Amino acid sequence: MSLAELIRGRRTIRSFNQTPVARELVAELLQQAAGLYPSAEDAVWRCIYAGTPESRGRLADYMMEHMTGSRLGKWMPGKMIELFKKRFTGIPGHVVVIAGTGPDRQASDRNYAAVCSILQNFQLLGWERQLGMLWDTEPMMQSEDFYERLGIRENERFVGVLHLGYYNKAPRGRARTSAEKKWTVYAGS
Ligand SMILES: Cc1cc2nc3c(=O)[nH]c(=O)nc-3n(C[C@H](O)[C@H](O)[C@H](O)COP(=O)(O)O)c2cc1C
Repeated sequence: MSLAELIRGRRTIRSFNQTPVARELVAELLQQAAGLYPSAEDAVWRCIYAGTPESRGRLADYMMEHMTGSRLGKWMPGKMIELFKKRFTGIPGHVVVIAGTGPDRQASDRNYAAVCSILQNFQLLGWERQLGMLWDTEPMMQSEDFYERLGIRENERFVGVLHLGYYNKAPRGRARTSAEKKWTVYAGS
């Protein structure tokens, strides 16, 4: 598969099968992904991996604490909460990604962009091995309580959670907006 085919063919996976994912493979792919970034040694980031049923349940509980504590969440039926937890813990692995922040906005954004680039590499390397992922940044993960539970420090920023696992069927890609619709061509004067 060419690099262009890999980039075009990768799809976000939202439905995983139960084939276990080796933790060593996740670590190896993350390492390789970082190595593909031109100045990987400069990027400041770390991950928390939840790959056992117990740790996945723990992560789901942290997430739900915020959800069920919210005004809207208080009205959520218990069955719905149970269903969410079951779905979340049924996914073979979750990689919580945390980026360092810098002394100013520019340094922080630069580092965040580097980490995002590494994650895209990680998704592509996973795809080569039939490992699917969903990069998740849903609002229910954007809470101080959740960050505290994860142990995110003051000089750190939550990037997202990559849910991962093997899949039976990849979804079809959506139509893309053409590049011409997203640019302005500058005239000489
Ligand atoms: C930075 C970032 C954040 C994302 N956050 C979410 C999210 O919160 N929920 C979700 O369902 N998908 C999320 N996604 C996945 C995108 O929705 C997905 O990439 C998009 O649907 C395009 O599909 P594709 O990856 O198959 O091309 C995110 C992707 C990126 C790069």
